[in-house]
Amino acid sequence: MPVITCIDDLKTLYRRRVPRMFYDYCETGSWSEQTFRENTSDFDDLHFRQRVAVDMTNRTTASRMIGQDVAMPVALAPVGLTGMQHADGEIRAARAAERFGVPFTLSTLSICSIEDVAEYTSKPFWFQVYTLKDDDFMERLMDRARKAGCSAIVITLDLQVQGQRHKDLKNGLSAPPKLTPSSIANMATKVSWGLGMLGTKRRTFGNVVGHAKGVTDPASLSSWTAEAFDHALDWARVKELMEMWGGKVILKGIMDPEDAKRAADLGADAIVVSNHGGRQLDGALSSIRALPGIIEAVGDRVEVLFDSGIRSGQDILKALALGAKGVMIGRSWVYGLGAMGEAGVTKSLDILHKELDTTMALCGHRDINQVDRDILLVPEDFTGRWA
Ligand code: GLV
Repeated sequence: MPVITCIDDLKTLYRRRVPRMFYDYCETGSWSEQTFRENTSDFDDLHFRQRVAVDMTNRTTASRMIGQDVAMPVALAPVGLTGMQHADGEIRAARAAERFGVPFTLSTLSICSIEDVAEYTSKPFWFQVYTLKDDDFMERLMDRARKAGCSAIVITLDLQVQGQRHKDLKNGLSAPPKLTPSSIANMATKVSWGLGMLGTKRRTFGNVVGHAKGVTDPASLSSWTAEAFDHALDWARVKELMEMWGGKVILKGIMDPEDAKRAADLGADAIVVSNHGGRQLDGALSSIRALPGIIEAVGDRVEVLFDSGIRSGQDILKALALGAKGVMIGRSWVYGLGAMGEAGVTKSLDILHKELDTTMALCGHRDINQVDRDILLVPEDFTGRWA
């Protein structure tokens, strides 16, 4: 077993162990991938102020997100098809998150169903919903999440239409994977992945197939997503969905201060500054550049979470210093899952936690809740002077 020291090491292992089609699904942005790249590279423009001779004993990263205690202010973001990255992937990731003490978010487009994840966990998780036209299906989905004890829903606002990811089209992405000569040749080299998949019955979209009208055959799912997403989504519909749920709501995909104000006006419990990991609007600003403007607009009115581009504890600390109350990670935990299953997700969380804790200490802080903008050196034009 190689020595794993950082998230990038997990990515290397992940790439070796998981079929190309699913690695590509995770490791892609839309079109030219400009935003996908800048989400990570823009963190490099922020620097820390190193402080010395400060008492570093008794440090804590414990905090709260939407009123829930967390071991560190990090939640696992919803990621589609995770059960294709590793057998029973969503169950495994949810268990690792629960053990670590951070929230797990289940995607509507997961392989393991809401009920599967509830059966194998003992604490409430968050559930992500897209905005779909079919009210019946939305109500049933929310009802299932309620019965499973989910403590919040995360409504994805930035995927009414899908940003094209070239690799998925070229690979013919599907779940279960289509058997073509090249997919068979590639899967044949992924032995532990294949054995895991043979050992589970969960190989298609568990929240959808058999639950959404007309979707009994997984092959019809791509047409279902193209037809079912609500292209007419507006703020009135967001309000309706919030009322339909009636509990805590996190609105994800906010990149503009005006949208942040609308979300705060609706009384969302939190918003997530996110460009969907660079998978939707190619050419949008990186999330980290968008964050300060949104904090300025609504930071005192709604909890602001951050997502897109986090690959280290240093990145987490930078987002918190700019005013985020917590962050979501997506690829960083999927790499761990694909590399080593449940233990890999735990490894991702351990790595991020250690980096976060040590970096906080070297910036002269002992309590993550006390960290503020003062620890950062931010270039004057970081958020841009855009005409
Ligand atoms: C789904 O939300 C995706 O980005 O693939």
